[in-house]
Amino acid sequence: MNRLSSRGAVLAAAFTLALGSAAYADTIKVGIIGPFSGPFANQGKNFQAGVEAWLAENGATVGDDEIEIVYRDLPSADPARSRALAQELVVSEGVQYLGGVYFTPDALAIAPLLEQANVPLVIFNAATSSITKESPLIVRTSFTLWQTTAPMAEVALERDIGKVFIAVSDYGPGIDAENAFRTTFTEGGGEIVDSVRMPLSTNDFSPIMQRVRASGADALFAFLPSGPTTLGFAQAFNDNGLKEAGIQFLGPGDITQESDLPALGDSAKGILTTFHYAVSHDSDENRAFVEAAGEAIGDPELLTFPAVGAYDGMRVITKMIEETGGEQDAAAAVEAVKGFSFESPRGPVTIDPETRSPIQTIYLREVAENEDGELINKEIESYPEIPDLGFSR
Ligand code: PHB
Repeated sequence: MNRLSSRGAVLAAAFTLALGSAAYADTIKVGIIGPFSGPFANQGKNFQAGVEAWLAENGATVGDDEIEIVYRDLPSADPARSRALAQELVVSEGVQYLGGVYFTPDALAIAPLLEQANVPLVIFNAATSSITKESPLIVRTSFTLWQTTAPMAEVALERDIGKVFIAVSDYGPGIDAENAFRTTFTEGGGEIVDSVRMPLSTNDFSPIMQRVRASGADALFAFLPSGPTTLGFAQAFNDNGLKEAGIQFLGPGDITQESDLPALGDSAKGILTTFHYAVSHDSDENRAFVEAAGEAIGDPELLTFPAVGAYDGMRVITKMIEETGGEQDAAAAVEAVKGFSFESPRGPVTIDPETRSPIQTIYLREVAENEDGELINKEIESYPEIPDLGFSR
C-alpha cells in the first residue's frame, strides 16, 4: 500500500467511525399532537406540563440518544387535520414516536398511518375503547370510559339510586360511557328513565336540564369531553335548580376536572365521580409530580388529568427507546412495554398486554373542600386493578 492509499484508508475508517458513532448518539424526535390553542388549550398545556415534568425529573438522554420534542397544535377534534399533522411529523420532521392526542376522532385518523411509517402512537388522552384495536402500534397511558364509568354504576347501585337519566356527548367516548353505565346499572337492577346524546357543539344545556328534572330521575349521569363543555354543563346543572331539587350529579371525573373547580364554586360540592387521577391524590410520587408539573405549567391551579397521561406517556416512550436501543422498530417498541408496570402519580399502573391500555385503580371521589378551603376531588374509595372493560365488547 503506498502512502496515499494508506492515508485514504485511515480517512475512510474515520468516516465509518463517525457514521458508526452517529448511529449510537442520535436525536430521537417525538411528535406530540394536542390542543395547544383555542377553547381546549388548557388540556394541551397539561400535555406539555406532563412532558416537561418528566424531562425535568429524568433528563432528555436515554442511553446514548437525546430526545427532542416537536409539538403540533390541533385545537379541536379534526380528523383530517390530525392525519395531516401526523404525516408531516413523520415525513418532514422524521419523528420516531408520535404521542399526545386529546380527542378520539383524531386518534382514529392517525391509526392507519402507523404501520407504514414504522412509528408507534402513545395516546396521552383519547379514551374510546376501540382505538387500540385500530392498530397494534397504539399504546394508551390515560384511561377508557368503560373503565372509569362502570364503577360509577356500581356506586349508584350501592347507594340505592334507583332511576338515572343519562346525558353524553354524541361521539366515541360518550357512547362508551352511556353503554358502560347502562349495562352495569341495569344488570344490577337499576332503571334508566331517559337518555340523550348531545352534539359536541352543544352549548345551551338548559333544555336538557329541564328534561332531566321532568323525568323523575334520582340522578343524572353525564359525560362530555373535559374543557369548556364540562364547565358549562356543570354550571347549567346548578343554574337550572337540579341540585336544589335533590338530583344527584354523577359522572366520570372528566366533568369535575380540578382546573374548573374554582369557577364551579361551592355548588359543585357533593358531585360524585369515578376516575383514575385526582391532583390531590395522596402519595409521594404525586406530590413530586404536582410540584414539577405545576412549575412547568406556571400556575398549579391549571393542573388537571391530561398532565398525568402525558407524564406516563413519556415514561412509556422512554422505556421503548431503552428497550430498542434507540433503533426505529415500532413493533419491538410496543412489544417492550406490554406488561410494563410502574408507580404513577395516580397509583400503580400496568400496561395491559392485551388491550395496550392501563390496568389501574379507579377512585370514587366527591367534590369537597380541603383543609385550606380549596375545592378538590376528594378520594373516598378505591377499586384496584380495573382493566379496560370495553375492549372485548
Ligand atoms: C376523547 O375524545 O376520547 C376524550 C376527550 C376528553 C375527555 C375524555 C375523552 O375528557
